[in-house]
Amino acid sequence: MGKSVDPRKNSGHGLPWPRSFQKAPKPMPILTIKTDKKTIEVEKGAAIIDVCENHDTSILFGCRDGACGACMVRVIENPQHLSPMEDHERDFLETMAAREDERLACQCRVLGDVTVEVAE
Ligand code: FES
Repeated sequence: MGKSVDPRKNSGHGLPWPRSFQKAPKPMPILTIKTDKKTIEVEKGAAIIDVCENHDTSILFGCRDGACGACMVRVIENPQHLSPMEDHERDFLETMAAREDERLACQCRVLGDVTVEVAE
């Protein structure tokens, strides 16, 4: 009878699994809030509003529904790493004559590393 081998660590032939078979942990996205000098590791797809509730940030929230503009942020780096803008957010930002780099934090999810600051 052969000796017992943990199949997660060893291929059974005395060698580790080739790298292509090993699962590397996926790095979690980093949300950087420049205004607060905070970098926060978040789950991919995390809502910024939920992250802010747990990390005492200076991003303010009012309606939490994309209707008041209290949570407006400027995206400094990697805007493509936020969830795509939905029609109601786009309509609101157009009404507010917002800049192209501004988003409503209450409507955004983090999909990758991204840097924002509170819009003035
Ligand atoms: S909290 Fe009102 S628009 Fe985001």
